[in-house]
Amino acid sequence: MKTAIYPGSFDPCTNGHLDIIKRASTMFDKLIVVVLINPLKSYSFSISERRALLEKATTGMKNIEIDSYDGLLADYFTQRSDVDVIVKGLRATSDFEYEFQMAHTNKDLNSRAETVFIPASATTTFISSSMVKQVAMFGGDLSKYVPSVIHKEISTRLKAEFEEKKRLAALKQDL
Ligand code: PNS
Repeated sequence: MKTAIYPGSFDPCTNGHLDIIKRASTMFDKLIVVVLINPLKSYSFSISERRALLEKATTGMKNIEIDSYDGLLADYFTQRSDVDVIVKGLRATSDFEYEFQMAHTNKDLNSRAETVFIPASATTTFISSSMVKQVAMFGGDLSKYVPSVIHKEISTRLKAEFEEKKRLAALKQDL
């Protein structure tokens, strides 16, 4: 039995992520989607919110498990002896350098941690969580970019975050 993990920030999960999840789940007996933290990034959704969104987006998919981990991916890999390989999606050559560096770092930290790359589908290659956030914050339609079961929740949450940011910025100017 071959088990792969698909790690990421998923802030929030997009149709690009779901495309990789669906395709990778046909290549392995089991796919564990792991929500992790890049400590150099600031997130709109908490780790438990990101996990809950992924759970909703993958409801009914048979060989998928959703997990989260606050630590190094290489350590997660060490703790889960059932995991064989890391799967990452590549949208463009611009992703490659960073992903290549992470793949080597993970392998250096845990020699068992091999990474395989899956190219994004042509229809989702331009979709990113940060693009989704910008569209949502200005009230744009997200329905083509994020899974339909979570699109309203994501839009409402991101619009509220943007309004709060604007309110705080206005308060600062009043001081
Ligand atoms: O979706 P992202 O933001 O490109 O995902 C990056 C993520 C969260 C997978 C990466 O930052 C990660 O693995 N974070 C956990 C800490 C870690 O192991 N970093 C890689 C070694 S530098």
